[in-house]
Amino acid sequence: MKRFTLDMAMLVLFLLVMGFRSLAQVWHEALGLVLLVAAVVHLFWNHRWFSSLMRGRWGRLRVAQTLLGVLLLVSATLALGTGILISNHVLKDVVIDLPLHRSIFVHQLHIASACAMLIFLGMHIGGHWAGLWQRIRKVPLLGALDVHPTMRFWLLVLIGWAGCAYSRLDHIGDRLAMVHIFSAPAARLPVVAGYVLLLCALGLYAIAFYYLQKWLARKGSRKLSANVQGGAMK
Ligand code: HEM
Ligand code: HEM
Repeated sequence: MKRFTLDMAMLVLFLLVMGFRSLAQVWHEALGLVLLVAAVVHLFWNHRWFSSLMRGRWGRLRVAQTLLGVLLLVSATLALGTGILISNHVLKDVVIDLPLHRSIFVHQLHIASACAMLIFLGMHIGGHWAGLWQRIRKVPLLGALDVHPTMRFWLLVLIGWAGCAYSRLDHIGDRLAMVHIFSAPAARLPVVAGYVLLLCALGLYAIAFYYLQKWLARKGSRKLSANVQGGAMK
């Protein structure tokens, strides 16, 4: 239960930190640092993942999951590290004399890595969706999605569409390419709509990785049973 509570707290923190414009910058920095602490605890609780990297067999599914874990770690480290370097409030006294503090490149890297983190975190949630759903389905009304596949299908379509819309409105592609965006249309959305669309963007990447993982698992098990049958016939 405590793992799930931390996972949900990190999700809320990420949404607040990423929805940068609706918060005062000092809050953005403070919550970003709380997210850093939460991520360290989350990684500590999952330290077995690191030690298991050297063991076991490597199928396509495991390669995809591990690559995603590494990409999420790199993007989160870059977003948090560059955020600390450009801090204008909470850590200003510590970083103000560093030459990188005013570097345009570091500012743009902060934004690009935050957008990369949005994509990889969405996929990370999709990768762990089966376990997370066991908890989330207890929320009133949400459990109904288990027994209404048509409703679930249209909800997923809606989330995917809203996620694409947010990615366009916030120029996620341009930000990833480190193009300077003066003001994206997403900044003019009402606050609640902005956060809902941001959540849908995470949902879009979660859905994509969830189904990729299922497809890879099916392919892997077909290959395994073909190998077993082949072995039995020899
Ligand atoms: C800074 C952000 C995060 C980083 C760097 C991170 C990284 C990791 C890593 C390396 C693992 C172990 C490898 C694996 O099983 O994939 C893991 C496990 C896991 N992560 Fe994350 N994660 C982050 C945020 C989140 C969030 C926001 C959620 C959920 C909403 C989440 C849910 C999970 C779950 C369910 C597990 C399996 C074990 C557990 O329940 O703790 N993670 N994470
Ligand atoms: C994973 C955590 C973080 C994410 C996802 C994140 C994301 C963002 C985003 C999306 C922007 C706004 C880009 C724009 O539209 O102009 C931004 C700006 C900024 N962030 Fe973060 N941030 C994080 C952590 C931090 C931390 C820990 C600090 C400082 C301690 C920080 C300091 C700043 C500053 C100073 C700006 C303004 C940059 C500028 O005006 O060019 N961020 N961040």
